[in-house]
Amino acid sequence: MLTRTKEILTEAKKNHYGIVAPDFWDLNSARDYVQTAEELDAPILLSFAQAHKHLISLEEAAAVGKLMAASVKAPIALHLDHGEDFDYVKRAIELGFNSVMIDASMHDFEENVRLTKEAADFAHAHGVDIEAEIGHVGGTTESPTEMEEVETVYTTVEDAVKFAEKTGVDSLAVSIGTSHGVYKNNKNPELNFKRLKELSENVPVPLVLHGGSGTGDENLKRCVKEGITKVNVFTEFTVAARDCAAKVVREDENLKSYMKIQKAADEGIRNVLRHYINLLTK
Ligand code: 13P
Repeated sequence: MLTRTKEILTEAKKNHYGIVAPDFWDLNSARDYVQTAEELDAPILLSFAQAHKHLISLEEAAAVGKLMAASVKAPIALHLDHGEDFDYVKRAIELGFNSVMIDASMHDFEENVRLTKEAADFAHAHGVDIEAEIGHVGGTTESPTEMEEVETVYTTVEDAVKFAEKTGVDSLAVSIGTSHGVYKNNKNPELNFKRLKELSENVPVPLVLHGGSGTGDENLKRCVKEGITKVNVFTEFTVAARDCAAKVVREDENLKSYMKIQKAADEGIRNVLRHYINLLTK
């Protein structure tokens, strides 16, 4: 059921559990996420990132997201992840996304505030919730043409409190040591839990952790215990889809149907989400 983001996050924050926000990139991944949420009777934030606009258009993502959400009873909010500019964010709001992220975290504090406030005012005037980021979650991100390395800047408590006050955001992504992307050194990152505790004691809105893939179950569970409400995950789904598809191709010498490959990829995606919902939401 299409549900307001604020409702899902407020309930989770109050009851100290985490909401998984998986990024979809096509009809199948969106269906996998929503049906897995339904199977486990758990809320999710069904997310689409602007960086994937070369895979499906925003109009397609909005139509797919709303259709899928309406097809189940579990609470599903349709969320724009990493909106990069006001025009795109505005279009997502007009197309019926329940919440949007404006990511201006690569700019200095004042510019981040200015760009976020502009988007927040528009979102709120349309009854839509908004997330922004202060500090910067780095890592390896896949741009449409190449893999790009981006540096991490840790969030300070002072900046986060000031930023939340000045912009009126409904949730805030903080940087405490996770990173985006595939090329992590296969070790779980060291997270700054002390900083997270201070952030959660001082910032009134739900806190968001980006870069969930490869962070490790213990770390993620502790993050939720110490104040993270929403956890973004993307890369692990694509890795699971790739590996499950490759296994079918490798092991079935008489493989005749592409659909069998697709089915294996879908099952891989569903298993990753089952794991994270059971870890964080239950
Ligand atoms: P990962 O790809 O590292 O899981 O990060 C996802 C994310 O933060 C999307 O916003």
